[in-house]
Amino acid sequence: MIATDAAELLDLSDPDVVADPYPAFEALRAEAPVAWYSGLGIWVATSHAACSQVLRERALGRIFRPREPEREWETFNWLHADSILDSEPPKHTRLRRLVQSAFSRGHVSRLGPRIEQLTAGLLDDCAAHLAADGSFDVIANLAEPLPVLVIAELLGWPEADRHLLRPWSQAIVKMYELNRTPEQEAEAVAASAEFAAYVENLAAERVSGTGDDLLSDLVAVRDGSDRLSTHELVATAVLLLNAGHEASVNGFGNGLASLLASGAEPGAPEPLVEEMLRHDSPLQLFERTATRDVTIGDVTVAEGQKIAALLGAANRDPAVFDAPDEFRPDRDPNPHLAFGAGIHFCIGAPLARLEMQTSVAALLARYGRLEVVDAVRRPTFVLRGYERLALRPAR
Ligand code: HEM
Repeated sequence: MIATDAAELLDLSDPDVVADPYPAFEALRAEAPVAWYSGLGIWVATSHAACSQVLRERALGRIFRPREPEREWETFNWLHADSILDSEPPKHTRLRRLVQSAFSRGHVSRLGPRIEQLTAGLLDDCAAHLAADGSFDVIANLAEPLPVLVIAELLGWPEADRHLLRPWSQAIVKMYELNRTPEQEAEAVAASAEFAAYVENLAAERVSGTGDDLLSDLVAVRDGSDRLSTHELVATAVLLLNAGHEASVNGFGNGLASLLASGAEPGAPEPLVEEMLRHDSPLQLFERTATRDVTIGDVTVAEGQKIAALLGAANRDPAVFDAPDEFRPDRDPNPHLAFGAGIHFCIGAPLARLEMQTSVAALLARYGRLEVVDAVRRPTFVLRGYERLALRPAR
């Protein structure tokens, strides 16, 4: 038997495949749900069962390998090595418990009315653009500012410096793409150092631990004699600030575009948002490294080899989802993997859901039917989203 090379069926250097990877996912899944990708030198999983196994298998870890030993990478390295996302038990268990305890102190549920208020303000901005230009860009005017404002408020980020967040975060996430350039790497390293230094100062101001924000709670959080070290604290805050908006911006834009293209009635916001996240998932690829030989589907991932779960492919698997390419706003059950699975399951899922449900419901309540005037995709595969999505009320 000749093994399938995933690169032949899923050419990630082809802009058309990046623009719409779903037909290629389907072809690859049908041929080999776990296949070797020659150019990248990793295994890729495209079925729901295999991706789910990759995310849950304890012999597959998120193992961060520090980049080059040069000094300028130092901060980038510990920002990752000391974060929850890039650690494994027992360190992950300890960090996750500390972060979860700070996170669950009613911060998210208390945010509901505030998210509604922020959304209403942003919808007024959309209306002003519509009046002036005949359309509004739902990314720039709603999908992007809302989660940035919310995560900034949650962490207690100074209002005057909110404009710093998005550029730092955008520079850092370029490191997660497969086709990044040396310039983008240098920008990510510089942004990491600036971001970390800023957060470290901010955390030092919160040492009294009396503030009513998540950063103060993280500073104060104690678990028996355990607590977060300075690097762990800064790495966690930076991760929350980044993870806390990047995927939400793209999840909203992608899902809304899918809804509008389908022409379906949106129905209740809760199932609608799950379908938005399933149909065109904002985070497409997560890697793991085998700590011993492990069988996934019918292949053996050898110790030291990497395997990627392609979440967008898993979420269109016909073995789990009826008519997977169709956008069905009331799909139930909807066991998508857009928030991951297993021990790294997204800690921010309740917040992301609340933001998306509130904003999509308010947008649709204000405008009824909308139509797309102009849509520009980002050229990236891992973080899938729109650069611009201009809308106007349907005529
Ligand atoms: C639509 C929005 C979002 C999506 C699709 C999403 C998706 C994900 C996924 C797939 C993972 C698991 C990664 C892996 O297994 O390797 C993850 C982890 C994580 N997410 Fe989210 N996320 C979203 C919003 C948020 C928000 C709003 C926050 C914070 C407020 C957040 C914070 C985190 C953190 C801290 C982790 C790491 C958890 C751990 O390693 O234990 N995310 N997210």
